[in-house]
Amino acid sequence: MKKTVGAAILAAGQGTRLKLSLPKPLAPALGLTLVDYSVNALLDFFKENELEGEITAVTGHMRERVEGHLTARYGATENIRFAVQKKQLGTADALRSYFFENPKSKELDYTIVMCADTPLIRESDLSILLTELENAEINGVAATFIAGNPKGYGRIVRGDQGFHIVEEKDASIDIRNIKEVNSGLYIFKTDFVLEHLDKVDCKNKSGEFYLTDLFQDHFAVHPVLFESAETFVGVNTLEQLEFVSEKLRIEKNGLLREAGVRFLDSKSAYIDWDVQIGEGTVVYPNVIAEGNTVIGPGVKLGAGSIVTNSKVESGVEVKAYSVLEECHIKADAAVGPFARLRPKSVVGEESKIGNFVEIKNTVLQRGVKISHLSYVGDAEIGEETNIGCGFITCNYDGANKHKTIIGKNTFIGSDSQTVAPVTIGDNCFVASSSTITNPMKNGAFAISRGKQVTKDGMAKRFLKTKK
Ligand code: UD1
Ligand code: CA
Repeated sequence: MKKTVGAAILAAGQGTRLKLSLPKPLAPALGLTLVDYSVNALLDFFKENELEGEITAVTGHMRERVEGHLTARYGATENIRFAVQKKQLGTADALRSYFFENPKSKELDYTIVMCADTPLIRESDLSILLTELENAEINGVAATFIAGNPKGYGRIVRGDQGFHIVEEKDASIDIRNIKEVNSGLYIFKTDFVLEHLDKVDCKNKSGEFYLTDLFQDHFAVHPVLFESAETFVGVNTLEQLEFVSEKLRIEKNGLLREAGVRFLDSKSAYIDWDVQIGEGTVVYPNVIAEGNTVIGPGVKLGAGSIVTNSKVESGVEVKAYSVLEECHIKADAAVGPFARLRPKSVVGEESKIGNFVEIKNTVLQRGVKISHLSYVGDAEIGEETNIGCGFITCNYDGANKHKTIIGKNTFIGSDSQTVAPVTIGDNCFVASSSTITNPMKNGAFAISRGKQVTKDGMAKRFLKTKK
């Protein structure tokens, strides 16, 4: 039978030192929030170890926001529960709230305690702890590491009889000199926690209920020393938030590289954690890919391009300094350089969007060309239609937006405008410099511009010379 495990993510804290208007678990890091990384690590851990797991976030400060976020992100797929800790009386009290609000968690084999602000912990770290707990047949394990500067951490005091943890405030000078510290990540047998948790008191310098009191010399518990201190970095300050974001970025780019993405300079690439990029895609310097973005295989992301919440299919070329937001670029299309694709734009297969072209809420079918200096908004353009330089859909009348529809295989001459709402059919020809205000049937030709008047020899009347 599968082992069962309950994970309590301690997320009630305020995190005032971060100086964000957000609760700390929702501090942003590489497109996710801090607590998402804890949840992801746990979900991976359950899967990898074939455990039947559930996750409970212990919330307090700004709990509506934290719970709202987790429900929105995981609600439909993963069962994430919440336990409210009304007053922050300490980490042992937080775990009491967890069992109190979710009594079924008392029946699970194991209990994991993790913080919401340690985004670099991975499934593999949790697996190391579980292996030790099971192989040594003990009741609890605490992940520890050697801190260059142990200030603020609980110290690991190892002796002949076992080990225990002393919080900084309660530590003698000798104990403060110990560099091995408590990471705050634990796995326990649930029965053991239930036996001892109620006995934890608050007779210490902080007056808090310390979860670390579950580690006593005469208990069957082990510290598990990890080599890398970085894994357990907790985010308390903006400096630490930047530090972990940078580590996450390097990790993400490394994962992409392993999957066959080629970076010219990954140090300059900012790819959000959830962004997917296919094999054979090349990322030029200073690319930013954000949010819910999916980029196919064999794509070129040119220098300085910014892609947000968009889908870019295989073989697309995004040329330098193009900005794509909430749009869909279909296979083998080309965009840019210096193109701006605004929300709800679809660029059809093999279409070409050139420099200084802005597109908004527009669907382009296959093979459309808009090569230079145009604005196309609220429009539909059919297959293989060619839009000349300097075309504008006049879509806004000062109060409302209107639609422009252009059929397939149509030619729109340079420096033309359509005054929406207006429809142009298939196989039409609009002469250069025309302003189209009336609909055109399939196959129609339209020209609307002042007639040219030429007077031989008359230019000298207008040419000015400097006095
Ligand atoms: C705790 C450990 C310490 C360890 C350190 C690692 C205790 C007593 N000490 O210290 O040994 O070195 O973590 O970072 O556990 N929280 C709640 N409710 C509370 C108190 C805290 O949810 O009542 C949450 C916080 O939001 C945070 C986590 O628990 O996510 C840790 O709390 P924090 O106050 O930062 O613990 P420390 O005192 O730093
Ligand atoms: Ca004109």
